[in-house]
Amino acid sequence: MIKRKKPLLNRVPRHLAIILDGNGRWAKKRGLARTEGHKKGAMNLKNIALFANELGIEVMSVYAFSTENWSRPQEEVDYLMKLPKLFEEQFRDSFKDNSIRVAFSGRRDRLSKANVDLLERIEKDTASRDGMTLNICLDYGSKDEIIRAVKEVVKEVQENKLPLDAIHEETLGKHLYTSEFPDVDYLIRTSGELRLSNFLLWQVAYAEFYFTKTPWPAFGRTKFLRALISYAKRQRRFGGLKG
Ligand code: FPP
Repeated sequence: MIKRKKPLLNRVPRHLAIILDGNGRWAKKRGLARTEGHKKGAMNLKNIALFANELGIEVMSVYAFSTENWSRPQEEVDYLMKLPKLFEEQFRDSFKDNSIRVAFSGRRDRLSKANVDLLERIEKDTASRDGMTLNICLDYGSKDEIIRAVKEVVKEVQENKLPLDAIHEETLGKHLYTSEFPDVDYLIRTSGELRLSNFLLWQVAYAEFYFTKTPWPAFGRTKFLRALISYAKRQRRFGGLKG
């Protein structure tokens, strides 16, 4: 009898989060402007999102711009704020062909009106698609998100719409940007830093982590697959004992 090897990816994360780090360093190493690194990073995002969709991942959340990134040089901030438009022009057709939905998480009050309109249009245009959801976190910060959620819950209590003892994990979860998604199963951070940088702190409570030295623009399909193979081999216990 032929002994068959088990498929390498018997299990993929339902919700994958990626901290897209290292665009600037990738560019600098090549003598390019940092903005070239961001452009290449955006192209790689399209490539990896298409692949993640093929592999059956339900949600892929990516950290594109944090609430702290506004402190970067104005020229770089201006370029990063042009990326949603550039990215949309690049992904529009292939995401449509592959039924990928695009959602955005984060504050909208500090974005330009043009960007807010664009984000809303992209969300509306892609809302009914049944493939993966690419959740782009833009002007996103986890502490900011949690404070916003707490304020909404407190308001419900003050207005006597919610009794205090009816506040559970799900209550807060319902007020997060990610309310419709499952918690994060796996988080990948590229480019060698070993930190979370205020990304999805609530949602990663039981997530597995993967850190790689490869900068985001160089993190192609083979390296991505290697990261997913590592996930497939892990045993998740969620605080319980080995099954
Ligand atoms: C971190 O690299 C990356 C960013 C701040 C931007 C990431 C954004 C993209 C890859 C494109 C996102 C697409 C959309 C649609 C907005 P870094 O600049 O911190 O790199 P460094 O640590 O090497 O300086």
